[in-house]
Amino acid sequence: MRTWDAAAATSAAEVGAGSPWRDAVSRTPRHLLVPNWWEQDGFDWRLHRGVSDTTSWIDTAYADRTLVTQVGELHADMAGDDVGPPSDRPPTSSTTLPSLVLRMFDVAEIEEGMKVLDLGTGSGYSAALLGHRLGDDRVLSVDVDEYLVDVARRRLATFGRVPRMVAVDATQTLPDDGFDRAVAMFSTRTIPSTWLAAVRSGGVISTTLAGTSLHVRVTVTDATHAQGRVVSDEARFMRARTGPEDGSALHRVYLSARTAEGDEVRAFDGDVPNLRDDRRLALLLELLHPTIDHRWIDLDDRSMVWLLHPSGSWARAEVPKFGGRPAVHSSGPLDLWGHLDRARQLTSAHGPIDPLSLAIEIDPDGRRITWPAAGLSFPL
Ligand SMILES: C[S@@+](CC[C@H](N)C(=O)[O-])C[C@H]1O[C@@H](n2cnc3c(N)ncnc32)[C@H](O)[C@@H]1O
Repeated sequence: MRTWDAAAATSAAEVGAGSPWRDAVSRTPRHLLVPNWWEQDGFDWRLHRGVSDTTSWIDTAYADRTLVTQVGELHADMAGDDVGPPSDRPPTSSTTLPSLVLRMFDVAEIEEGMKVLDLGTGSGYSAALLGHRLGDDRVLSVDVDEYLVDVARRRLATFGRVPRMVAVDATQTLPDDGFDRAVAMFSTRTIPSTWLAAVRSGGVISTTLAGTSLHVRVTVTDATHAQGRVVSDEARFMRARTGPEDGSALHRVYLSARTAEGDEVRAFDGDVPNLRDDRRLALLLELLHPTIDHRWIDLDDRSMVWLLHPSGSWARAEVPKFGGRPAVHSSGPLDLWGHLDRARQLTSAHGPIDPLSLAIEIDPDGRRITWPAAGLSFPL
């Protein structure tokens, strides 16, 4: 069996040779922060306990994988052996895959001596890396969930890391300011004003926009002005929540839409817009209609794409793999499939949206993300 330090050294070797995070990765015992986790098994969740199979614990904890630690209100630490979280609850905390944590840090261009705000403590892994490199006194880590903050604090202390950690809704007022950098590992639809207030002038925020995979780098001018740009279309985090659990309204719509017959069922002859692989079409839909969520699943006999709206409207395309015609089921007053068609029309008119061309502007007149090629701005 590999020891944890051998496994961590292997992970560190995979981090770029010049990365300033190498030492932190090789010396942070990630497995101690994730003793228990959930794994999705079809529509259900399966509990893993590290102590019951230590070889797999080490292999999993040092793989470049996101591990879901809490689903709904049920943290894997508290789960009984036979009782999983109800399948109608979304994941509410995880330890982010290490390569994405480092990407979030790299975009922020964190340097020694900086004071950094870690938004979304989760397992505490990002706080541990920051504390190792910068010194614990340079780090404030916050999470909306008191249990997560308490348990992360205790686990970090077992290997000598003691960054400041506070349970607070980080979209509201933060307990400190003057940060050189803020890095968020949950997503928000806009950049909250409280983040602009917490970061010094010239400071940088590395974050993602909820409902999209857009990773943005924003430079703060003052508490009401900032500019930024999109640096990639490949980073997706769970949405900000305001308490122990929310976001389940949309999840309930998903449950009704999962397999039910729609009020309307249409067969169609053309192509099914492939929101899974056509990221640019999906992005345009996300920017045009931020409240529409889309999901997909690939099953043995069919793939399915869902469009979901928190008010209850939904559409689901089913594409059988072995014959049979694709069909769209839909329910509710909103024509979600029609919105997708509009995104297709804009794409035909202006060409596919290039995520790296998108610019972000925040000033007292508003917050927007601009698509220069189409001359369009979407409110943030
Ligand atoms: C993907 S996890 C963070 C992963 C963590 N940084 C790590 O390295 O393991 C996202 C976290 O954001 C937290 N979160 C969600 N909404 C929040 C909010 N409004 N304020 C603070 N934390 C929030 C969740 O509780 C969750 O633990």
